[in-house]
Amino acid sequence: MATSVPIGWRARRSFWSRWQALRFSLNKPQTIGPPKPDGGAIGELPIGRVHRRIPLEQVRGYDRLPKDEARLGMRVITAIGLWLARVVPQMKPGLPEIDEDIAEAVDDAVARYRKGFRAPVLPAELDTGGNQGRPPDLAALAVRGPYSLFLERDPAGTLRWDFHEMGRFEHHPGLCNLGVGVEFTEAGAALQATRIDSEAHGSVGCDDAEWERSVLLAACAATTHLALTRHYLDVHLIGGDHWAVATRNHLPPDHPVYRLLWPHIYNSLYTIHGTLRTQVLPEGDFANVFSFTHDGLIAYLDEMYGRYDVRITDPAADRARRGLDDAGFEQPSHENLLELSEVINAHTRRYLHHYFTSDDALRADDDVAAWMDDLDGLIPNGVGALLGPTLTLDGLARLIGGHLYEGIVIHDLVGTTLWDYVPWADRLPPRLPIDGTRPPVDVYQRMINNNFALQIRRAPLLADYGAVALDPQGAAMFSRFHAECVDLQERYDRAPAGPWRMEPKNLEIGMNG
Ligand SMILES: [Fe+2]
Repeated sequence: MATSVPIGWRARRSFWSRWQALRFSLNKPQTIGPPKPDGGAIGELPIGRVHRRIPLEQVRGYDRLPKDEARLGMRVITAIGLWLARVVPQMKPGLPEIDEDIAEAVDDAVARYRKGFRAPVLPAELDTGGNQGRPPDLAALAVRGPYSLFLERDPAGTLRWDFHEMGRFEHHPGLCNLGVGVEFTEAGAALQATRIDSEAHGSVGCDDAEWERSVLLAACAATTHLALTRHYLDVHLIGGDHWAVATRNHLPPDHPVYRLLWPHIYNSLYTIHGTLRTQVLPEGDFANVFSFTHDGLIAYLDEMYGRYDVRITDPAADRARRGLDDAGFEQPSHENLLELSEVINAHTRRYLHHYFTSDDALRADDDVAAWMDDLDGLIPNGVGALLGPTLTLDGLARLIGGHLYEGIVIHDLVGTTLWDYVPWADRLPPRLPIDGTRPPVDVYQRMINNNFALQIRRAPLLADYGAVALDPQGAAMFSRFHAECVDLQERYDRAPAGPWRMEPKNLEIGMNG
């Protein structure tokens, strides 16, 4: 670390790294058994009405934790962490930039995390051949790894990343505006980034002087959108909260659909209890790591909530939604996501067809009807785009499969996997100062700490969850799902890939710790 960093802040940094490492060591994967009765309805209301300092008006949350998620020990640790954040602030205005040598900056920032976990691995998409500070290959990121989720074809047929909307929300002073869009051109089996439009630099091509700064800006906007919208909002606040609340409120715990969902909704509300406090409060991670002020963050989350499209939870529907069905270029991440989704959807189809003899039998289930009605009202813009015009077993299997896929696959892709991406802040900056400086050490360290916190051990995908089933036939279907995930892993073992590929052995059964 640069020698000009004050000793006092270095001590604070050491303290916070130890705290994160302690939390990591205390957190053990939960054993998921059959659900226990919930004891009463959970309120569904805007988060701002429950948390005065998180004034979200659109994003809905819950009014109380269910008994089985009110884990006193972890709530106390969260409360101690919030108290420590006031006594020992992680941030200090005016600190110097991170080391110019990004490898040094990474080594220094993750030093304490290497022992109990591991150091980040540089993904091939970010490998600039040893050229420090060179911008990343956006075209590689657009088809492989977490950033591939943003590629779409606009109505005129142009392939794009479009983050222009992000420019509308209040930014911290001195930072580049995140309103930016990238145009990609097909070049045989690959893509090429050919034009970037931004408020900061105007419209630039790859031979223009501002190209490299524009690439960094696009990478910054994409990184911000991944963390705030695709991970926290879409996976947790929408997927985690709304599926858990609707299920607990309308399905009895001995209903077969409740049992199908249980390993995946387990602990969803507790996870949100902790993360709202550590990440979304004004002094939380989000407003202190990324470009938006707290007011900007709240307005942005409310806006993105209204734009949610349930088709993003199904890779086949999502590819069609993004106009990529007839693409001639290679989309390795999409193929990977589709393979995982097919195994998950086969499980939900088998299961539902076992417990319901026909679509009519499903529609005659009053609990399912009330549950679906609530879920359709809670999920922004409803669930019809994936479920279909009427309730059918196959439509419901796809919809439930989408929720499982969000927790098992997307949560890893857009959350846990970023441990290997975002430390390379010379290529994927968390925020981009207008004056061209690198991020200050406190912002960078907090981003590392936040990403380390995402690495907590959760219950694995590769396990048999038959213990949650209603009966031996149900248990056999959970076992078969496990076996099919193992089969897919064996296929992947025969052809190793980089960190971009989601593999069952690295995945977890849900988004919750
Ligand atoms: Fe998460």
